[in-house]
Amino acid sequence: MKAAAAPDAEDREAMLLAAVLAPSMHNTQPWRFRFDGFAVEVHRDRNRELPAEDPKRRMLFVSLGAAIFNLRVGAAVRGYGARVRYLVDQGRPDLVALVELGEPERDGLAALSPYLTLRRTNRQPFTDERIPDQARVELELAARLESAQLQWLDRPSRRWWLHMATKDAVAVDGDSRRRTEERRRWVGGERSVDGVPSSALGPRNAGAGTVVRDMAASAPDSLRSTAVFEAEPQLAVLATRFDGPIEWLRAGQAMERVLLEATRHGLATSLLNQVIEHAELRWQINDPLGPWQRPQGVFRFGYGPPVPPTPRRPIADVVIHHETGPADAGQVEHGPGTLDSAPDNATSGV
Ligand SMILES: Cc1cc2nc3c(=O)[nH]c(=O)nc-3n(C[C@H](O)[C@H](O)[C@H](O)COP(=O)(O)O)c2cc1C
Repeated sequence: MKAAAAPDAEDREAMLLAAVLAPSMHNTQPWRFRFDGFAVEVHRDRNRELPAEDPKRRMLFVSLGAAIFNLRVGAAVRGYGARVRYLVDQGRPDLVALVELGEPERDGLAALSPYLTLRRTNRQPFTDERIPDQARVELELAARLESAQLQWLDRPSRRWWLHMATKDAVAVDGDSRRRTEERRRWVGGERSVDGVPSSALGPRNAGAGTVVRDMAASAPDSLRSTAVFEAEPQLAVLATRFDGPIEWLRAGQAMERVLLEATRHGLATSLLNQVIEHAELRWQINDPLGPWQRPQGVFRFGYGPPVPPTPRRPIADVVIHHETGPADAGQVEHGPGTLDSAPDNATSGV
């Protein structure tokens, strides 16, 4: 029983190595961590945010949520249970969550740890093989365990809405020089510690459907080869009941739990979040027949060729060793009203 003692250096390293494997928009890895006894502070890194493409910081918080989930998995492997509290201190605006370590729990999280390094964003064409029903049910359960819902886009009408909204998002994104310039900083070329290398972009889609996002931001990447993708991509929307930074942090944990569960089932996964990034388009992919939900992510699942991992920053770069406080937060430029929509009662457990 490990929980009697605070994490030692080996525990801390194991948890950090798990956390940094999380997916993040454009592989920005916008996180920093500080250990304080039985607590792990999770901080946003304002130098790694995307003000043009992610003005409300929705994707930032979803990415941070994914890292929190991996931290929980890493903690479970080292014999700790974890309870997450969100936005705990208004005087420390960069501190987005506190992961409190305690007695081990029988939550099955440690069983997901072998898949941390195997999970990847796979932008290659998938085969037409259908996902077994049992795997679909288990992916739904993974989302529900993290207070989110996974909605399969099986009905042609919902796929059509996604297709139309994605086309609009592509047009808006293509027209924005700010967005393209920002993306160029993070996407393309060879990458050693962060960003999305050209080799991870996958081929361009030779067809017309909505299958993968073409993230190319440079001329050579825009001219890469084309390929035929699966005719009927197996798509699902991850949705939450409410919206705001705390829900985004929860959605990120649900996203990563679903992705790891999918990896456990031998599935390849990718994300098509372009629509989610646009407030005026996001509602179009809601389920008109279901209860009102807030879409937080669009997944593609299937069977694809293996792809190499994307790079990560060394863990020494993501550790905060000193105490942080309001003065610390004041040293960096603050983005636009990112926490505006945080509910008054900003603390809750998972
Ligand atoms: C919130 C969020 C949004 C993302 N949106 C997209 C997307 O729209 N299209 C895409 O191809 N990848 C998307 N990704 C995947 C990231 O690009 C990917 O996680 C990152 O490059 C690291 O690579 P990895 O997932 O293979 O570890 C997103 C990831 C996160 C966490």
